[in-house]
Amino acid sequence: MQWELETTGLTKRYGRLVANDAVDLRVAAGEVHAVMGENGAGKSTLMSMLYGLTRPDEGAILLRGQQVRLASSLDAIARGLGMVHQAFKLFEDLTVWENVVYGAEPRRFGFLDRRSACTRVQELAQRHHLAVDVRARVRDLSVGIRQRVEILKALYRDARILILDEPTAVLTPQERDGLFAIIRALRADGRTILFVTHKLHEVMELTDSVTVLRQGRVSARMRTAETDADAIIRAMTGRSVNLSVARSPATPGAEILRVEALRVPAPVRGAKPLVDDISLSLRAGEIVGIAGVAGNGQSELIEAITGLRAAEGRIHLNGQEISGRSVAARRAAGMAYVPEDRALTGTAAGARATEALLMGRQHDPAFARHGVQDGAAIAAHARDLIQAHDIRITSERTRVGTLSGGNLQKVVLARELDFDAPLLIAEQPTRGVDVGAIEAIHARLVAERDRGHGVLLVSAELSEILGLSDRILVIYEGRLIAELPGAEATEQHLGLLMAGRTQEVAR
Ligand SMILES: Nc1ncnc2c1ncn2[C@@H]1O[C@H](COP(=O)(O)OP(=O)(O)O)[C@@H](O)[C@H]1O
Ligand SMILES: [Mg+2]
Repeated sequence: MQWELETTGLTKRYGRLVANDAVDLRVAAGEVHAVMGENGAGKSTLMSMLYGLTRPDEGAILLRGQQVRLASSLDAIARGLGMVHQAFKLFEDLTVWENVVYGAEPRRFGFLDRRSACTRVQELAQRHHLAVDVRARVRDLSVGIRQRVEILKALYRDARILILDEPTAVLTPQERDGLFAIIRALRADGRTILFVTHKLHEVMELTDSVTVLRQGRVSARMRTAETDADAIIRAMTGRSVNLSVARSPATPGAEILRVEALRVPAPVRGAKPLVDDISLSLRAGEIVGIAGVAGNGQSELIEAITGLRAAEGRIHLNGQEISGRSVAARRAAGMAYVPEDRALTGTAAGARATEALLMGRQHDPAFARHGVQDGAAIAAHARDLIQAHDIRITSERTRVGTLSGGNLQKVVLARELDFDAPLLIAEQPTRGVDVGAIEAIHARLVAERDRGHGVLLVSAELSEILGLSDRILVIYEGRLIAELPGAEATEQHLGLLMAGRTQEVAR
């Protein structure tokens, strides 16, 4: 079979991180092909290589069977590729048609032929059912219309293959339906669409085939009609490791965390809130797991609880209201937090282990006297934690930026547990961690529960949620849509809930 677009062994590294690892993509002509995966799976990296914005380290790109070398996006455009980026690249002060023809203006006697340019853009918009006023200034247009302008731009340059990178992320539900109609019309016109998303229902609704990426690798390739939500979720999140954690039933005590009607508004007006009226309660001595496909509001929920993001609603920690307080004040009220993004929020790469293990406690009387840091006490503290948590590190003076993912995670976890707060929020605690370290981290979380602390666990790993949670809350499109006892949940059941298919579960 001759593919319209194919990649073989496409690899892109950023330092030690392999953003795309030998990716084989196969897209047939005239189909809508989903490139799906969680945040950070490598979707945008792959698209940048296809559009000539990023040079692959290894591997090949083939268009209709011919290997091509794309030195720039101009090369890609010349070969019939078009791309609509996550962030639009339009000139606010120019009109729609001026934006569309920019850089490829029709000329007459060396001058821009304004009338014919405008008419051509108008005709193009009509032909593709893109309802846009071509004379309007871009600054006056909504996000949904701007996106159409970007699509027009690509069509004006005669794109046979159109790449849309998370095009629905910025759209209202109505705008999204409009976009889907446009995409279907483009497919009927014989064009090929690469549709990048992390949203499962969009894949099911719109696409003909799907390539799933996980941690930079292709984890599945299937025809949409022949697969189901469950299989896609497993490909997106699943790890083959079987994680069973030894633990006794929970004995929950007093309420530690209460969240009432928490709401994080959408970044664009009219779109769904990122966190939509979430209420939950967590008691001492229990692990509550939040299950969901990444991108359904779990990060925003945690940011709202930890104070990293403004939100409406009320939050009580240990009986104190903490809504509206700073991150530091919330920590002081008894909140430990192992963030998803350890490299950014969790630790500074340039920090030594001593500093990383102390973060936030520099002024603690145990480590400073009269404002002067007690180096010996800090080093001893670091050595204790390194030993207790089996952190593989040369010395406590080593910079944490040199550690492997698993060891870095142990550093963050050690620091947060040492904080001895009644609430521990653990977000994707084993992402990127090797199997050996996973077990140790899981055991720590259970021990934390058994000491009478409350643990709020967010994980895209079904097996992790199932293995650790006493209660499971399922988040979907910003809402909690189900709660079930950990002991009764199955992977099958959770998979359907995570896809938002509550009806099928009820039946
Ligand atoms: N320019 C860059 N420099 C360093 N790391 C990058 C760069 N671009 C992407 N990455 C990393 O590569 C991985 C894949 O990112 P990306 O392709 O944007 O994922 P996705 O689009 O699926 O969310 C992430 O870990 C991201 O942090
Ligand atoms: Mg992306």
